[in-house]
Amino acid sequence: MEPAPAPLGGEIAVPGDKSIGHRALLFAALADGEVQISGLSGGADNSRTARAIAALGAKVRREGDVVIVCGHGLDNLREPSATIDCGNSGTSMRLLAGLLSGQRFPSVLCGDESLSQRPMARITRPLKAMGAEISGRPGRHPGEVLPPLEIAGRRLAGCAHTLEVASAQVKSAILLAGLYAEGDTVVVEPGPSRDHTERMLSAMGAPITWRGHRVAVAPGGWDRTLSPAPVVVPGDPSSAAFAVVAALVRGALRVTVRGVCTNPTRTGFIDVLEQMGGAVLRERENERGEPTADLVIEGKADLCGTDVAGDTVVRAIDEIPVLAVAMALASGQSRVRDAGELRVKESDRIDATVAMLRAFGVTCEATADGFSVDGTAGKPFRACRIDARGDHRIAMAGAVAALCADGPVRIDDVANVATSYPRFAADMATLGATITPA
Ligand code: S3P
Repeated sequence: MEPAPAPLGGEIAVPGDKSIGHRALLFAALADGEVQISGLSGGADNSRTARAIAALGAKVRREGDVVIVCGHGLDNLREPSATIDCGNSGTSMRLLAGLLSGQRFPSVLCGDESLSQRPMARITRPLKAMGAEISGRPGRHPGEVLPPLEIAGRRLAGCAHTLEVASAQVKSAILLAGLYAEGDTVVVEPGPSRDHTERMLSAMGAPITWRGHRVAVAPGGWDRTLSPAPVVVPGDPSSAAFAVVAALVRGALRVTVRGVCTNPTRTGFIDVLEQMGGAVLRERENERGEPTADLVIEGKADLCGTDVAGDTVVRAIDEIPVLAVAMALASGQSRVRDAGELRVKESDRIDATVAMLRAFGVTCEATADGFSVDGTAGKPFRACRIDARGDHRIAMAGAVAALCADGPVRIDDVANVATSYPRFAADMATLGATITPA
């Protein structure tokens, strides 16, 4: 791709939020009746969940831009006739594992090469504590559990779990199992992971309560009905982050990303950018289940280095690779800590981010739980060739960096951009950046 002629300008609407999309589909499959879902991402990850719920007996159809799911109720899922393939999608696999643990039938979940290397003990351990019979492949380290996952389907008992690492996938898997358990299920987390499961299940009438970092499901006395209600999936902040960072580092006449989810558990990246001196305006703020806003960038930011750690990392976990690009163009040093989770995403995102920035000529260092970056203070990056390692967010972060290079950049292994943001190149073109297939 080519360096972008500054400044960028224009208006885009990113795909529907991937996390909310997975949950909308899964919970609709458990509802008593038809749920209309609009704004669902056309990405491959959400499609995996759509296929999974169809395999479990939900009727799924598309009418124009709306996906309609007809659920048959919480206790009427059907035994799938084959292994459920979650592709590249960790959220599909982990949430389904929780849901399927308490069914009356067995099931098997598999994934692609990347997902097959991702750690599953974080869900099998708490689910087993609830009585689940679930097993996977052993990994290289003792206690490691890797996909595929075989689930027997058992009666579960609620229990209290304290998570070592904040994770919405683990929390949601446990809460879904909790809907099928006898007694109460409680999850306590060390940080603010995304709360879409809590918001959506509660809106559908599930007996779920949450306060701070503690969530409880208490199914005793509940009529086991999840009411179908239409879902409007807001724009994905994790996809919006690419255009937002591109506009800040390249400069923007006025770049608008319409209708983005601004749930505070997701806006850590905006806080980091503002901490660095980049203004991200919120216009047309709205609240329909989830808060949304148009994100607007005007002018060019003089970014300065920053430190990111603790709860902010949890609230920006998927945006760290593109934030690293902003850090690399800032003045001064930046550091990311407490982000060891990045090592077990679609790729080892600490190594992949550092390798990507080094290819652009940036000085940076990986640590066990993060990295440090010496900013170039706006000096253009070196033109280079980078390897996205099959990780969609590394590919798109690399593309944003390429806008600030002194010549053309080639990015390899980018097919998985389609898992979350199939329109990425087209949206960047709308803003004035050229990405061409190699
Ligand atoms: C997600 C939770 C996060 C995030 C992932 C989506 C979700 O993972 O990184 O992209 O939808 O619940 P963890 O739960 O592993 O932190």
